[in-house]
Amino acid sequence: MPRTNSLQNLSAWYRRNRRELPWRHSGDPYHIWVAEVMLQQTTVRSMTPYYEAFLRRFPSIGALAAASEDEVVSAWSGLGYYHRARNLLRGARHVVERHRGRFPDDLDHALAVPGVGLYTASAVLSIAFNRPLAVVDGNVRRVLARIHALRGRSKRKESNYHRMAVEILDRRNPGEWNQALMELGALICTPRNPACPACPVRTACAARRLGLTAVIPETRPRRATADVYVKAAVIERSGRLLLVRGAETPLQRLWCVPHTSLDSTVAPNLAEELRKRYGMAIEPGPLLLRTRHRVTFRRIRLEAHAARLHSNPDSTAHDLLWAAPEEIDDLPASSMTRKIIKAWLARQLALDL
Ligand code: ADE
Repeated sequence: MPRTNSLQNLSAWYRRNRRELPWRHSGDPYHIWVAEVMLQQTTVRSMTPYYEAFLRRFPSIGALAAASEDEVVSAWSGLGYYHRARNLLRGARHVVERHRGRFPDDLDHALAVPGVGLYTASAVLSIAFNRPLAVVDGNVRRVLARIHALRGRSKRKESNYHRMAVEILDRRNPGEWNQALMELGALICTPRNPACPACPVRTACAARRLGLTAVIPETRPRRATADVYVKAAVIERSGRLLLVRGAETPLQRLWCVPHTSLDSTVAPNLAEELRKRYGMAIEPGPLLLRTRHRVTFRRIRLEAHAARLHSNPDSTAHDLLWAAPEEIDDLPASSMTRKIIKAWLARQLALDL
């Protein structure tokens, strides 16, 4: 892209059109770090409430470093990809131990923070400390692919994008420039139906010139959505609910009410499957909740029943816990389980009235 004109256009466009995002005015590397980690997996709109709640709970790197893994994963509940929460905690502890709680302001030290890769390091250092580092995320890759009309697999190498991003980086104002490119990808140069007439760099865009904006970037097909059917059992004993935790990957060792496999495409038999999965005998009772629930690529038809326990689960393959509903707020529990327990509590309230 001829740098001079387009550069000025893009920066001016960004100042006029940027979204007022909670970390944009803070300049605090910790705020930017948390935001960038959350933004690697979800959109600005869905992550903002989580971001604000997370910072209320852990207002500084020191506060985060002092928290337990369970507390941090619990504050992350609903965002998915829980290894990111664990890495953030490991990173915060590293920053407290090695850098007296201040996020390092040079690339080598930033990259040595556990869980911080080139993307996060470049984003935090450019935005918080104005270091001249180019940021390449999915939005930036799409913008660059279109500007240069890149086609074919070999052109899509990460190093290629990084080189192009470095070439056009505004070294005097790298934080703003990086965010302007990301914002352009989020607001104008969208995956489908990009708003080319409103684009500040349209005259420099080869894909537009060639009529190829609909086919560039050539993406790999996304992992297909899986429609699955899950049933769960809420088992109460003296005001406490039975939670289980296993080694299954999708739920990353979160506490859950006993439930059937997350991969069944037909309605499962709750009692039979819980016997197989957990070695427990139950008798399903009234329906508590029937809803849809989404976890990453799974679209779940969820049904939860109150149930009676006839024989205890096998505790060798799973951790077991009898927890009072109010304790579950502070446990690392799956968002599916939180939803089910809310329905169970609503029903208890209704029965009490
Ligand atoms: N996506 C990821 N980080 C972003 C940021 N700082 N601004 C806009 N979009 C983003």
